[in-house]
Amino acid sequence: MSAPLLGHLDPAFVQMMEEVKDLLRVVFATTNPLTIPISGTGSAGMEACLVNLLEPGDEFVVGVNGVFGTRMAEVAERAGASVRRVEAPWGKVIRPEQVEAALKNTAKPKLVAVVHAETSTGAWQPLPEIAKLAHDHGALMLADCVTSLGGVPVLIDEWGIDAAYSGTQKCLSCPPGLSPVTFGPRAVEVVKTRKTKVQSWYLDLSLLAQYWGEERVYHHTAPISMNYALREALRLVVEEGLEARFARHRRNHEALAAGLAPLGLALAAEEGRRLPMLNAVTVPDGVDEAKVRGRLLKEHGIEIGGGLGPMKGKVWRIGLMGESSRRASVLTVLAALEDGLRAEGCSVTPGAAVAAAQAAYAK
Ligand SMILES: Cc1ncc(COP(=O)(O)O)c(C=O)c1O
Repeated sequence: MSAPLLGHLDPAFVQMMEEVKDLLRVVFATTNPLTIPISGTGSAGMEACLVNLLEPGDEFVVGVNGVFGTRMAEVAERAGASVRRVEAPWGKVIRPEQVEAALKNTAKPKLVAVVHAETSTGAWQPLPEIAKLAHDHGALMLADCVTSLGGVPVLIDEWGIDAAYSGTQKCLSCPPGLSPVTFGPRAVEVVKTRKTKVQSWYLDLSLLAQYWGEERVYHHTAPISMNYALREALRLVVEEGLEARFARHRRNHEALAAGLAPLGLALAAEEGRRLPMLNAVTVPDGVDEAKVRGRLLKEHGIEIGGGLGPMKGKVWRIGLMGESSRRASVLTVLAALEDGLRAEGCSVTPGAAVAAAQAAYAK
């Protein structure tokens, strides 16, 4: 990011834009030509997808089982869509039967959306069945891949996802500031045949596509250094190899889970649907979760997240994303949690958590 700045139409920068698009297509497992980084964080990508695919009055079916499904519903309402929420308890995933029932009760569904990796709960949402249901009912499928991209498989073309957005600061291990999006042929057609103008000029994909496509028409000044960073982050992902990266995330998650057990700690998301990069841990009764988090930060230099919404005060959220999904992070956070729990008066066997994680790694 500290490399000298280039102009946003400089041939060298234009070349870099092409590399970013190619690399994004690799991580999204897609051939979609319209695969570009939106200027702004993950929420900008969310908003870009919703305001381009929905017009006032369109019917939108959205899975709500955490903060980010809730946010999608809010953004779509502001865009004038008629929003049908399909809800599941926080920590659980949305069932295809629920989506099917909602689609049957919707006259002309335009778009279905769910969050692939719900960062507020640690739930890992399966996508292919829901995408098929959306198509069977004549709707497009949108997926929030902010936390999943680069940490678990995201197979846009194979799963029939019409549009998806992500963020740079999660498993791509890049500073925050860009939001990769990908639009497939059906989604592009919907954007092209809109009856009304996209309410946001800044996020209008037809205009952005003229800058990121062959025309190179100035729209807004690209965040140059952010694109340097994204290109380098994506290059590192490809250098490691997607499969190796997914396996690394899985292995570190399994070791963390093994180490939490002797501390009497359990993961909050439903069994079999737990994300490897976001581990929501249930806080034991009687423990002041904020005090433990504070101690981790002050004494050990480790920041973990607290719960959001209904999970506030009830869970800790331990991120093992991208570069931070490593053995040293797992062993260090387990030792620190042991210390934090003891300070709270819990009886824990010294060293048992780290030993259990080491045993998991030795398998
Ligand atoms: C699943 C999910 N969607 C959307 C967002 C919004 O992204 P940002 O905070 O980068 O705007 C986040 C951020 O944590 C997220 O985890």
